[in-house]
Amino acid sequence: METVRTRPDGGPGSGLAARLTRRQDVAAAAATGTALRRTMGMWQLTLLSVGATLGTGIFVVLGEAVPDAGPAIVVSFALAGVTALFSALSYAELAGMIPASGSSYSYAYATLGELVAWVCGWCLILEYGVSVAAVAVGWGQYVNELLDLTVGVTLPDALSAPPGAGGVLNVPAALIVVLAMVVLLRGAKESAVANVVMVGVKVASLVMFCAVAFTAFHAGNFQPLFPLGAAGMSAGAASLFFSYIGFDAASTAGEEAKNPQRDLPRAIILSLVLVTALYVLVAVAALGAMPWQDFGGTEATLSQVLVQAVGGGSLWPILLSAGAVVATTSVVLTVQYGQIRILFAMSRDGLVPPVFSRVHAKSGVPRANTVIVSSFIAVLAALVPLGSLADATSIGTLFAFALVNIAVVLLRRRDPDAPRSFRVPLSPLVPVLGVVCCGYMLFSLGTDTWIAFGAWMAVGLVVYRLYGMKHSKLNSAPEEQS
Ligand code: ALA
Repeated sequence: METVRTRPDGGPGSGLAARLTRRQDVAAAAATGTALRRTMGMWQLTLLSVGATLGTGIFVVLGEAVPDAGPAIVVSFALAGVTALFSALSYAELAGMIPASGSSYSYAYATLGELVAWVCGWCLILEYGVSVAAVAVGWGQYVNELLDLTVGVTLPDALSAPPGAGGVLNVPAALIVVLAMVVLLRGAKESAVANVVMVGVKVASLVMFCAVAFTAFHAGNFQPLFPLGAAGMSAGAASLFFSYIGFDAASTAGEEAKNPQRDLPRAIILSLVLVTALYVLVAVAALGAMPWQDFGGTEATLSQVLVQAVGGGSLWPILLSAGAVVATTSVVLTVQYGQIRILFAMSRDGLVPPVFSRVHAKSGVPRANTVIVSSFIAVLAALVPLGSLADATSIGTLFAFALVNIAVVLLRRRDPDAPRSFRVPLSPLVPVLGVVCCGYMLFSLGTDTWIAFGAWMAVGLVVYRLYGMKHSKLNSAPEEQS
């Protein structure tokens, strides 16, 4: 397998500081040779991002966030979408310049140096690996809801909840992770085809939701629009940010895209526009069909809105629950794929062991990586409750997004003439707004989440010191030997 040609061009002086700030060469990283197969076109990349994005956020978190904001939740969705858009534009610029599979980890390595890249990769484990576990737990909940609506039975708590939440083991959550692993082992193309079908089903079920909910629409439900003020609306936006996580998933397929420079920026922006439009529409339909005061607690999923709108005996809520199961299946599949590709890139750079970048000759898939990552996620999904997993996901994601915005500004200054297939408009204003928005959301997260994040980062730094720093491919780059 060809590896990225790298050089330690970023270190001022020598010694520890130089090691921590050494960077990959942007041009070399962009010309990454890969053993992975280039099979994905623009639409498959777009649907990869849509697949990773539409899931628990719209089917469940929307219902939970309405009591914070009232009907202004529609505005919250748009605001969270704008926040995501700032970062999406930065992702688009860097994905077009550095189409490696490591997503923001690779961008940080080429701009901010090895230590920040490591920190970013460690954050991405929260955005990808831990969020798969969170979504897998949500998947188990929908399966139970579907069983309840169809045959009136639910799985016993012992087998469908983690320790600490009344159970022993969350079997369905682990099961979906293992099923996703089986699909991923078949190959990126096969996984992308499975994802296209599932995205079709979930978009269709949300469109169906809108069509049915609009039959019970009452414009009066939007009066007043801001019953809980601007503060309620922005609290709603912070919770709903979770529903946009995943738009960057296409950037983990840089080495499996047929024409990454052209297609990655388009796919990232297009997926975000599609998802935002759908979210706002679903929110208008949901609030029009059910007064905001009736949303309360964790029971207010979209199926419950339909039950209230058209009655419990109808087929629509069942169809919607089935759609939610499919929706979360595709989030699990695509985000698990992303985690595997990010570790692949980190391993190729020497920062994690080589087993993660070993590619199976026949399938073109990093098989050992797929099995190891999936096993870890399955155990996490079986043992940890949803709330803790979701918060960890948000903090890791916001950190990674902030770094990507900073990387755009730095690279524009350092390398203004490098070829860019997409340019963020109004830079540095837009990336700076991206950092400000991420910072605002980061500081609205709870102290417990920050403590857990600090602990996670401390472990990460120890791993880097003991392994990554010693094995980095930049250690043997020719310039450093001279
Ligand atoms: N955006 C993803 C979801 O809502 C994480 O499920």
